[in-house]
Amino acid sequence: MAIYVLGSINTDLFFDVPHFVRPGETLMPGSVQILPGGKGLNQAVACAKAGSKTWMGGRIGKDGAFLLEMLNQADVNTDLVGVDNQILSGKALIQRDAAKENAIVLYPGTNHAIFPAQVDEFFDSIPDQEILLLQNEISSLPYILQKAKTKQMQIFFNPAPMTDEIKALDLSMIDVLIVNETEGKELLGEQGNPKAICAKWVESHPDCAIVMTLSSKGSLYMDHDYFFEISAYTMPVVDTTGAGDTFIGYLVSGIDRGLPIEKALKQASYGAALSVTKPGAAPSIPTLEQVEAGLKALESQAKN
Ligand code: RIB
Repeated sequence: MAIYVLGSINTDLFFDVPHFVRPGETLMPGSVQILPGGKGLNQAVACAKAGSKTWMGGRIGKDGAFLLEMLNQADVNTDLVGVDNQILSGKALIQRDAAKENAIVLYPGTNHAIFPAQVDEFFDSIPDQEILLLQNEISSLPYILQKAKTKQMQIFFNPAPMTDEIKALDLSMIDVLIVNETEGKELLGEQGNPKAICAKWVESHPDCAIVMTLSSKGSLYMDHDYFFEISAYTMPVVDTTGAGDTFIGYLVSGIDRGLPIEKALKQASYGAALSVTKPGAAPSIPTLEQVEAGLKALESQAKN
C-alpha cells in the first residue's frame, strides 16, 4: 500500500531561551534555527524514512520551496502539494527552554487555505483503498473525512493539537485514533487511567483501534479484541519537538509494511526516542536502519 498524508507544512522558527518569555519581558535567545516542520510534513517524513511509499498533500506559499526540498530529500512525493501565491506558508514560533520543554505559537497560513476545491483535487488524484494519515493543523477536516470514506481509505487520525472543533467532529469513519494522554482525556472527557480511557473509546467506537502515547511511560494499543502496551526507551534529550510525529509516522508505516502491531509500536517508540537526541522536528527523524540497529543492540544486551 501507500501512505497519503494530507496535513500541515510549516517553517519552524526555534528560539533557545532560558525560560518561556513572560508578559512584558524582552528575551534574547541563545540561538535561532529555521527548520522544516508541521505535523503533516514531520509525519510524512517519518513514514518515508521508515520505508513506506509516501505522498504529501497540502498547501504552501511562495516562501515554501525549502519545505518541498526537505520532503523530496526524504523521498516523499510532493506532486499533490499546491502553491498559493497570496498567503504565507504555516509558521511555528517555538521557544525551547533550558529544561528542553517547548512552547509553540502557530500561524496556520496556507494550511488553513485548504478548501473543498483543493480537497476534491487531492482525492481525485489518488487511488481508492490506500492509507490516509491526518492531523488537526489544516482546514476542511469534516469534508476531508467524508471524502476519505467514499474512497474507502484506511484512516489514521492524530487529533493534534486538540480543539473544541475536534470534540464536535463525527469520528465514526476513523480506523485508528492516535493520541497522547492529554488529548485522549480531553477528547473523551475522562480523567481515568490511560487503559480505562482507551477502553471507553473502543466501547463507543468498536471498529476503531486506539493508540495512546504516554511519554516516559510508554504507549498502549487497544482494539475490540486486543490490548498491548510497551515501555518507553530513554535517551538524552536535546529537543522533544516532533517526537510524537516520529512515533506516528513509524507506527503507520509499520502497519503499512505489514509488521505485527507489537513490532510497529516498538519501532515507533524507539524512533521517537532517537529523535529527541537531535534538534528540530523533521531533521531529527532517524532512518529505519538506525532504528533497527538500535533495537537489535538492545535485544542482544538483554540476552547477555
Ligand atoms: O509536532 C511538532 C510540530 O508542531 C512542529 O514541527 C510545528 O510545526 C508544530 O506544528
